[in-house]
This record gives sequence, C-alpha cells and structure tokens, in this order.
Amino acid sequence: MAIRLAPEPVWAGEPVGDMRSNGFWREQFRLYRLWIFERRRAEIATAAEPLPSGITLRLLDRHARRDWACQRTAAADWPQYRIALENDHDLILAERGGETVGWAWIGYRRVFLAPIGRSIRLQDGTGYLYDVFVRPAERGHGIGRALVGARVAHAEAGGITRLVSHVRLGNVASRRALERHGFAVIGQTAFLRLLAFRLWTRTPLPTSRAA
Ligand SMILES: CC(C)(COP(=O)(O)OP(=O)(O)OC[C@H]1O[C@@H](n2cnc3c(N)ncnc32)[C@H](O)[C@@H]1OP(=O)(O)O)[C@@H](O)C(=O)NCCC(=O)NCCS
Repeated sequence: MAIRLAPEPVWAGEPVGDMRSNGFWREQFRLYRLWIFERRRAEIATAAEPLPSGITLRLLDRHARRDWACQRTAAADWPQYRIALENDHDLILAERGGETVGWAWIGYRRVFLAPIGRSIRLQDGTGYLYDVFVRPAERGHGIGRALVGARVAHAEAGGITRLVSHVRLGNVASRRALERHGFAVIGQTAFLRLLAFRLWTRTPLPTSRAA
C-alpha cells in the first residue's frame, strides 16, 4: 500500500493561524521524522552571538508570559501553553522597534508535544528548546541563531546542564542554528499517528539519555 505523507505538519504548536492544520481528516494521519539534538554544558563553551541590527531580545517574566500566551493562544494551542505556564517555561521575544518579530521557548520538567498530543517529562537539570518562530520577512538574518544563543545562555546560567531539542528532518535553518551553539544530533525519532493508532520510535537513543 502506498503511504502518502501529510503536507508540512506543524509540530511545535505554532500559535499562527495560517500554519495550523485545518481539518479533522488531516489530523488523523500524521508522520513526523525528527532529529534529536543535545548539548551538554560541561563539554562545550558558550559562544556569544551578535544580534542582527535593530533587533533586541527580551526575556518575559511570569506575568508577561501569561499575558502573551493568553493573547496569542487559540483553543488548539492551549494544552501547550498551560503546561508551559504551569512549569515556568521561559519565553524570549525578538523585537524590532517594540514589535515582536520572533519568539522561542525553553521547557523545564514537562513539555507538551503538540503533534503527539501528549507531554513528556524531562529529567532534573535538563531543558528543552522548542517552538521557535521568526516572522518570514525577518528570516535569514541571524535572529533564529540569536534566539538559540540566548536560550542556551539563560538556561545554563540557571543551572541547566543538558539541553535537548527536536527538529524536523530537512529543517536546515533550525539545525544549523543549533549546531552553531554546540548541539549535536544524537538520534532520530519518528512519530506516526493513524486514527487511534500511535507509534513512537527513537533510534539510537540510550535510555540514560532519553528526554
Ligand atoms: C527556523 C527559524 C526559526 C530560523 O530562523 P532564522 O532567523 O531564519 O535563522 P538564522 O538567520 O539565524 O539562520 C540560522 C542558520 O541557518 C541558515 N539558514 C537560514 N535560512 C536557511 C535556509 N532557508 N536554507 C538553508 N540554511 C538556512 C543560516 O545561514 C544560519 O546558518 P549559519 O549559522 O551556519 O550561517 C525560522 O526559519 C522559522 O521561524 N521557521 C518556521 C518555524 C520553524 O521551522 N521552527 C522550528 C521548529 S523545530
């Protein structure tokens, strides 16, 4: 039987209307193939990342995070934001002249994976980089890279010793931005959802390193 891949699923719960999947049947078949990235603080020095001209980064406090999530969130995104707010995930905005042009999250303790529709637990000392987005008109100028650098610096200053992330196979910009900051691919994972059937594989990922 020939298997057709669903077109460009959004796996990190993008809170952007035109990127959200639309339709019940499309939701019933999903195949995601992801790289698993890891960075260990003890092994790699942090490199300072220059910001693109006119861009500032802002770390939101707990109240600003809640307001941001409430303003942007559609019902489908709420499980991701609820877990982010409950577990004090950090959110960094990239701004130009006070306008938000990008954002990125750091997860701790528990993270909701939107395409799977379930959350995963993180070990103590582990942080998870997720849901990075740069507005299309601003891409390719180093904002994504700067958001990775800022998240690494912030998480490690707060005591995180291991950072992990997932990137869809073929997302070269994300991959390069992570590699630039000392992340390396430690495995691949695939997730298949077909009606009520769900299959999740990880290769190769030793259990001691599992996210
Ligand atoms: C992924 C994303 C955040 C990258 O942001 P960005 O500001 O465009 O990235 P940068 O300009 O910092 O580029 C990062 C690296 O990727 C490279 N790159 C950027 N766009 C690229 C492209 N279209 N093709 C190949 N490489 C690209 C850059 O040269 C840079 O590599 P370098 O450090 O070796 O020079 C942005 O493309 C985006 O929002 N995509 C949609 C959402 C998404 O895919 N999120 C990731 C989910 S895992």
